[in-house]
Amino acid sequence: MHAGKLIAFEGIDGSGKSTQARLFADWLEARGREVVRTREPTNGPWGRKIREARFTARLSPEDELHAFIEDRRQHVAELINPSLSRGAVVVIDRYYYSTVAYQGARGLDPAELFARNRAFAPKPDLVVLVDVEPKHSLERINARGEGQDLFETIGELTAVRQRFLAMASEAHVTVLSGMGTPEVVFGRVLLK
Ligand code: TYD
Repeated sequence: MHAGKLIAFEGIDGSGKSTQARLFADWLEARGREVVRTREPTNGPWGRKIREARFTARLSPEDELHAFIEDRRQHVAELINPSLSRGAVVVIDRYYYSTVAYQGARGLDPAELFARNRAFAPKPDLVVLVDVEPKHSLERINARGEGQDLFETIGELTAVRQRFLAMASEAHVTVLSGMGTPEVVFGRVLLK
């Protein structure tokens, strides 16, 4: 057990989870908590490899899984665990639920994906799943003008969303609608 709290924000690409993670971290800091803001994939060597592969040749499901797990192993050891031991609140934008949803959508077994992650990664106190339909999330991504990457086709995002929603039966996972302005959605976060 750890002294701090670990809160993860999850959702498909373009769901607005990163904005909600930021608003929540701001809200906690305004109340005097020590907050560590972080995200996966990280900016470490494995995270960089993952980002490069997104725009070039996509890795096989197994190689992709290996890269996300090694990225997370380093993240847990170097930042997440030390922060939790100190009593900080760690607010993370994506965590192993993304692995279960995305690598699960590529055909890997969700139970095995959970087991491989939970062998080393601390379980969050709360997972906030920001849910939007892929057609809306893709509109947002296109409006940002960054271009879609290899993870972001409507078919794949639909499969990923279903896998996220399938996790909502876990007690520590809460789902809320990501539709509306960031402030409206944040109002829903605070009700949880
Ligand atoms: P994203 O949050 O879009 O990162 P950024 O915009 O900062 O580059 O995450 C990158 C992609 O990686 C996203 O499409 C989801 C995917 N992903 C997985 O497939 N498995 C994982 O375990 C994680 C953390 C992310």
